[in-house]
Amino acid sequence: MTDRYSAAHSWADLRNRVVAGDWFHAPSPGRLERMDGGLVEIGADGRIVAVCHAGSEGHRAMARAAARAGRLVTLDGLLIPGLVDLHVHAPQYPQLGKGLDLPLEVWLQRYTFPLEARYADRLFARHVYRRLVSDLLAGGTTTALYFASRHVEATCELADACIAARQRALVGRVIMDNPGQCPDFYRDASVAEGLAATRAVAAHIESHPANDGWVRPVVTPRFLPSCTDDMLRALGDLAGECGCHVQTHCAESDWARDYGQARFGHSDIETLDRFGLLTRHTVLAHGNFITGADMDLMARRGAAVAHCPLSNAWFANAVFPLRAALEKGVRVGLGTDIAGGPSASMMGAMRMTVAASRMLRDGVDPDRPAAERGRPGSDVDMITAFHLATAGGGDALDLPVGRFAPGQHFDVLRIDPDAPLGTMRLWGDESDEDLLATALYTASRANMTHVWTGGLQTGQA
Ligand code: GUN
Ligand code: FE
Repeated sequence: MTDRYSAAHSWADLRNRVVAGDWFHAPSPGRLERMDGGLVEIGADGRIVAVCHAGSEGHRAMARAAARAGRLVTLDGLLIPGLVDLHVHAPQYPQLGKGLDLPLEVWLQRYTFPLEARYADRLFARHVYRRLVSDLLAGGTTTALYFASRHVEATCELADACIAARQRALVGRVIMDNPGQCPDFYRDASVAEGLAATRAVAAHIESHPANDGWVRPVVTPRFLPSCTDDMLRALGDLAGECGCHVQTHCAESDWARDYGQARFGHSDIETLDRFGLLTRHTVLAHGNFITGADMDLMARRGAAVAHCPLSNAWFANAVFPLRAALEKGVRVGLGTDIAGGPSASMMGAMRMTVAASRMLRDGVDPDRPAAERGRPGSDVDMITAFHLATAGGGDALDLPVGRFAPGQHFDVLRIDPDAPLGTMRLWGDESDEDLLATALYTASRANMTHVWTGGLQTGQA
């Protein structure tokens, strides 16, 4: 009993410790690195100071010195980087699984905008957002890029919830001022009002006394249809002035792509670029219909895609050409797109990434001959999906997360293959790659026993 208690206790705060364990990360697409018995030293600031592979020079000396100083902690199970969700609509959490038989533009008007309008009630926002942030952390999402609603107070509640729970986050108050596309009850009254509200949220986040780099503001036009030209121009200027991140939806469905083409005469990517909204700090949700030329422009600007494969199955009308985008040098991470995607699970996002890529490769219409059914060479493997959900997401945000390397935040997820209520079963014959793939395909919440951000276990307060 005493041992169990002290073990649990010593795992809660890993700052200033040297942790021994079996580490798995994917520093680049398709490349898995496994460090069995590796040592990871964590500094007082929750960042990784040193990483030492078992069998490398100095490993024994480092382990011995740490043990002598009472700093050595040994973790069992599989240790992977915390997951990065690049696209979450926080106010849509109560909408999971609702109205999914509708097309996007109807779903937004009938379900999403009325629900998001309810966040005028700050206490409702607090209630939902605290639950969401703790649920996401429990599922291993240690960093999230959030769309909030258009309310200043509610968006500040979301930022506060992330800071309190120690989730790394970018939080954006959604901007939408086009009367032709946004209902009267849920619309920014003018460009000036939209900008002032956006600045008010940024000021709250930046002056929060406990915000030691945990949360940042992000300029968040909902998508091209919901904003006027004047608003898009002003937001491009704002993004240039503050240097902060930008997020929006882009070329998500046939309707959204056609709307942009008809109104602006260009692809969504070209239009965003013309408004100064396509930069190295831009993350574009979906991008299903981006062309080769769009990809080239994105790669030149350094803009990233939040690939949301589960949501795409309902709203996209197509599969995102992930492999082609990666080969063109476009930065990509994964998103759940709550509630377009009816699951908060980033494990689910990885699984769906692989499945969708295989459907694109082989095609889906059995009446067509195999040779004409799909797009050969479009598939990715689970290790690539794992990379995108960790280091790829971190890179897209220019945050030092997603790898086990000096300078990275110690944001880590422990998977216990033997968790009694879990769904993972091992049979003793797994190769390195198989072991991780088995975990990523079959682990459920009960297997995710510990999540740390900045070296501290979350959900312990
Ligand atoms: N396009 C504009 N708004 C939304 C949204 O809330 N969800 C999705 N999936 N697409 C959008
Ligand atoms: Fe979305």
